[in-house]
Amino acid sequence: MSTFWSWYITLLTVGTLLALFWLIFATRKSEVHKNPTEQTMGHSFDGIEEYDNPLPKWWFMLFIGTIIFSIGYLVLYPGLGNWKGLLPGYEGGWTQEKQWEREVAKADEAYGPIFAKYAAMPLEEVAKDEQALKMGGRMFATYCSVCHGSDAKGAVGFPNLADNHWRWGSAPSDIKTSILNGRMGVMPAWAAVIGEEGVQDIAAYVRKDLAGLPLPADNSYNQEKGAAIYAANCLACHGAEGKGMAILGAPDLTSPAGWIYGSSLVQLQQTIRHGRNGQMPAQDQYLGNDKVHLLAAYVMSLSQSKSDSATK
Ligand code: HEC
Ligand code: HEC
Repeated sequence: MSTFWSWYITLLTVGTLLALFWLIFATRKSEVHKNPTEQTMGHSFDGIEEYDNPLPKWWFMLFIGTIIFSIGYLVLYPGLGNWKGLLPGYEGGWTQEKQWEREVAKADEAYGPIFAKYAAMPLEEVAKDEQALKMGGRMFATYCSVCHGSDAKGAVGFPNLADNHWRWGSAPSDIKTSILNGRMGVMPAWAAVIGEEGVQDIAAYVRKDLAGLPLPADNSYNQEKGAAIYAANCLACHGAEGKGMAILGAPDLTSPAGWIYGSSLVQLQQTIRHGRNGQMPAQDQYLGNDKVHLLAAYVMSLSQSKSDSATK
């Protein structure tokens, strides 16, 4: 800020404070204060009249208090033009960033050792530790629930993390890698390759022949064509039996409970026609390994209770 504007702001601020200080004293009728009068100001609004008395003392003192507070504030914090403030502990003046950094450093000092302790333990063990799961649950609510839901059960386009369907693998290390490095699902668009009729055939094929879901009675898709399109275009990623491929994040097409884009014919056609591109943002740079370790353990714990059922 240039010197001119710095002085402009300083004088305007200090001038206003002085003016207010003067105003509150100038308009105070202390002599009347001692003997409250029945005299009114002489105007009446809907029959309500105003007495000619000064402000109550507590109100007056509160007003003075705010002015004194502002002086203290303006000395300690930056508020007057280029003045940086004298708040102790802030070399070169207080700023939001510095305060934030200090709080983060303090939190790291307090909680860093706890995170480090868990980071050194295998995920399976952390997933059984009550304190770790509590911390993981709180972090999940803060960082993950926007997309995966507060119950981790997902939504359209965002996978359920509390079941046993894993797009990118169910091993503890797979789950941690998903969170640490992020994931990007690339399902190509097929409209241009197989045509609209092909889209209809393969969508019905996926729904009926792979997923085992019923079709509308009037649907007369060509099953042979569907199977041929599958073998030519889909098998490479979704596998010979449609069971998916975790390295690519290609989901199991025989298990619609794990799908995230819907299983109706219309939704399947949409997915196949235009492709899908789900993205899990990497947390490494943002949260770091130790916190992700706890989060991975928390996510694992959500499906552990059901680990007797299939883990694909
Ligand atoms: C290059 C690899 C690849 C090929 C080839 C491919 N897919 Fe996919 N498919 C994926 C990936 C990866 C996803 C997950 C996309 C995401 O999560 O956003 C996916 C998702 C899907 C889904 C959505 C499942 C859900 O969760 O709702 C369907 C349905 C599907 N594919 C069907 C097909 C069909 C039919 C074909 C052949 C015409 C095909 N895919 C070809 C990689 C592929
Ligand atoms: C911006 C939205 C978003 C946020 C925030 C987010 N995720 Fe995800 N996450 C996704 C999407 C989308 C996918 C699926 C990617 C795909 O299509 O394959 C995913 C996938 C995953 C997977 C892999 C699931 C599987 O089936 O293999 C895990 C594990 C996961 N997220 C955990 C987390 C955790 C823990 C957090 C909090 C740190 C988090 N996610 C935050 C969107 C998000």
